[in-house]
Amino acid sequence: MDTGHSRGTWGSRSGFILAATGSAVGLGNIWGFPTQVGQGGGAAFVLVYLICVLLICAPIMVAEIALGRHSRLSPAGAFRNLAPADSSWWIVGALGVATGAGILSFYSVIAGWTIAYIWFTATSAVSGNAESINHFFEAFTSNGVVNLALTSLVLGATATILLGGVRAGIERATKMLMPALIVLLLILAVRAATLPGAEVGLDYYMRPDLARLLDVSVFNAALGQAFFSLSLGMGAMITYGSYLGRREAIGASTVWIVILDTLIALLAGFIIFPAGFSISGFDPTSSGPGLIFTVLPRLFSTIPGGNLFGAAFFLLLSMAALTSTISLLEVPVSHCVDTRGWSRWKAVVIVTGCVFLLAIPSSLGNGAVGLFSDLPIIGGNFLDLMATIWNNFSLPIGGLLTSIFVGRVWHVNRALDELCAEGASFPVASLWIFLVKWVCPVAIGSIIIATALVTF
Ligand code: PHE
Repeated sequence: MDTGHSRGTWGSRSGFILAATGSAVGLGNIWGFPTQVGQGGGAAFVLVYLICVLLICAPIMVAEIALGRHSRLSPAGAFRNLAPADSSWWIVGALGVATGAGILSFYSVIAGWTIAYIWFTATSAVSGNAESINHFFEAFTSNGVVNLALTSLVLGATATILLGGVRAGIERATKMLMPALIVLLLILAVRAATLPGAEVGLDYYMRPDLARLLDVSVFNAALGQAFFSLSLGMGAMITYGSYLGRREAIGASTVWIVILDTLIALLAGFIIFPAGFSISGFDPTSSGPGLIFTVLPRLFSTIPGGNLFGAAFFLLLSMAALTSTISLLEVPVSHCVDTRGWSRWKAVVIVTGCVFLLAIPSSLGNGAVGLFSDLPIIGGNFLDLMATIWNNFSLPIGGLLTSIFVGRVWHVNRALDELCAEGASFPVASLWIFLVKWVCPVAIGSIIIATALVTF
């Protein structure tokens, strides 16, 4: 039903912060961020990323949560109900549904790799010198049957969690997961910083090559990565906000989520680059999606008991990935339940089935099937294509439309009433209004237009 009266709410603000942080922290931070830094030229990318997070993504997160809490609906319903009658704003919600399914289709492949690496590191199957570790990764990702099985495992686990009501357990687990992940990352960062050659990596990561700031593709990739990492631009935060109680301060919650998510991404970089550059012949640009799977096992092999340490790390990363996949699946599922009146069960089964079909080419595109591994005309593999379409274009476009909607259609003053409901404080109101009404649409719009002009 579209009324949303029967919606449950989070037990407390910390329940919401945990679930939202669980959605935000995942492969985007530990796999995506270092990979993008490597491809985007190091510290210049980091700089642009941080600016995007502060000036564009944080205000949009506030807007999404307010939209969700005010409407108490899934994204398409929220846009439809708050827009003037007969307008087409529901399309933004629908775009989010497609984007959730699209991202999940490649995300589940990478999440499958992290699960496999729990076993590979625990049993020391992946070890030896850099060359044999690279070779191991290539042989593993080009095994079609194993990859399909792992992808279905991830999708099956996600669907079971959404259906089985063990979500509360998962959210409670997030409470332990985040501190454990941060501690493990800190230990690894200290180890990586003490490896021979680490200074080169730190330099690469922290000293921006200003010439890269003239490259519009760096802006596009950083913007897309910021949206992806913070779970914005597709309605995940609208959906989670729709379960948030009115007494909770949205501004303060956003600050927490953004700080935790950014901290974890930055930490991952402090591990990968010093460790990577300590390996001779390391080239961050050409490593692609295999970057963490080839650099980390090498790092673990320099630590006493490294295989157990590595297994614990990939276990935590798999759990962090699962708290993100449930939010990715939740958006299309709650859409079908709210707008089509399907039962939750039917929605989960049908949506998961469709996502699996779309995941097949990503799963088989890393060497198993030539057509998907080296796409005709455009080149590159299917997984990279998916990541580019959904992360670099779909999410920022969703964010652009959300900022226009909240700033000008629903209107900032109504959003502000929601942000200050029940006496909650929102001290940066005028800054937020300026960012949502002007900075977000102008900056995102210019980056997308410039990228399109350069690409086509
Ligand atoms: N933010 C998640 C991550 O960093 C991925 C995600 C994107 C989840 C969009 C939900 C929505 O892994």
